[in-house]
Amino acid sequence: MSAAPSQDSVLAALATVDDPEIKKPITELGMVESVDITETGHVTVTVLLTISGCPMKAQLTERTTQAVQKVAGVTGVEVRLGVMSDEQRTALKEQLRGGAPEREIPFAQPGSLTRVYAVASGKGGVGKSSVTVNLAAALAEQGLSVGVVDADVYGFSVPRMLGVEQKPTQVDDMILPPISHDVKVISIGMFVPGNQPVVWRGPMLHRALQQFLGDVFWGDLDVLLLDLPPGTGDIAISVAQLIPGAEILVVTTPQQAAAEVAERAGAIALQTKQRVAGVIENMSWLELPDGSRQELFGAGGGQTVADSLTRSIGAEVPLLGQIPIDVRLREGADSGMPVVLGEPTSAAAVALRGIAKGLGARSRGLAGRSLGLTPAGR
Ligand SMILES: Nc1ncnc2c1ncn2[C@@H]1O[C@H](COP(=O)(O)OP(=O)(O)O)[C@@H](O)[C@H]1O
Ligand SMILES: [Mg+2]
Repeated sequence: MSAAPSQDSVLAALATVDDPEIKKPITELGMVESVDITETGHVTVTVLLTISGCPMKAQLTERTTQAVQKVAGVTGVEVRLGVMSDEQRTALKEQLRGGAPEREIPFAQPGSLTRVYAVASGKGGVGKSSVTVNLAAALAEQGLSVGVVDADVYGFSVPRMLGVEQKPTQVDDMILPPISHDVKVISIGMFVPGNQPVVWRGPMLHRALQQFLGDVFWGDLDVLLLDLPPGTGDIAISVAQLIPGAEILVVTTPQQAAAEVAERAGAIALQTKQRVAGVIENMSWLELPDGSRQELFGAGGGQTVADSLTRSIGAEVPLLGQIPIDVRLREGADSGMPVVLGEPTSAAAVALRGIAKGLGARSRGLAGRSLGLTPAGR
């Protein structure tokens, strides 16, 4: 009979188990309370959950069992679940916050390396959410760490488009965002019972946004995308106040009253001193079976908006790309599988990936700064 495994070898195996939500080893998070090994090689591990109703219980038990089973000499594994004490939870929160005081918005700190894009449009239905989720999925696929905040109080469409069904886990006042297609997602809809329509006034929205940015454990993001409500109202000003470095991505269709949209977006950007990273034209054309393009909604809107913004802001605002009308994009949105992942060769996906490639190349805010600044542990 082989010798029973050592405590160290079991702990080494446990160090390969990541918490499904926090994505860090459970050993580092103080979640392993005890490891007992009998002479015959039977291992009992007690894992502490952050909260008692943790939705990831089953997954955590399975991952732990699998990891320990692989250790030489192990003849059986039992995983017992406990719950962290208030003190343990506080220690965990402090660790996750990296010692920063509560309610500080990490993206607003001077040393932040996260690029924040606020996706805006003059009106609804132009594809703002579709663009947001597809850029997020494409950027995550490039290997970047990506988060999305769905701040569109009229829409709440981001979770559905990314196939997120679970609610965020709340550890006291810290919120762990659900992850889908490697994208961390928080939506205002996750906090509204039964997705009831709510009249959101400016101050409420501001507070909600502040919470999403300050109380959600985002980890070390390369890119954060904010899906804003249509129009250029209070929330754009809130974004500018909360994250001064956020840049604006304007989504438009070719036919829109382009000059008007551009003027409004430009006026806000000037007022808030935010950069406009560029314009994305959506629903640009429909490709016909013979390969020709039918421009259902006219042509040139995106370029007109970009030119007009360039003039009004006095800084170059590029047209970042044109996305054709593609039924597969809508189908992907309805099924929770972004078209850039589900149908990567479709024309819309190719256009979206092109835009994401441009944005990804300029990820990490302090261009040229050494990545040695990245906090340890990633
Ligand atoms: N390029 C496109 N091709 C086909 N359907 C699209 C395209 N862009 C958006 N849609 C569809 O149009 C509708 C509105 O898009 P959405 O992203 O929700 O707009 P917004 O967020 O601006 O209100 C959705 O049903 C979406 O699937
Ligand atoms: Mg939307």
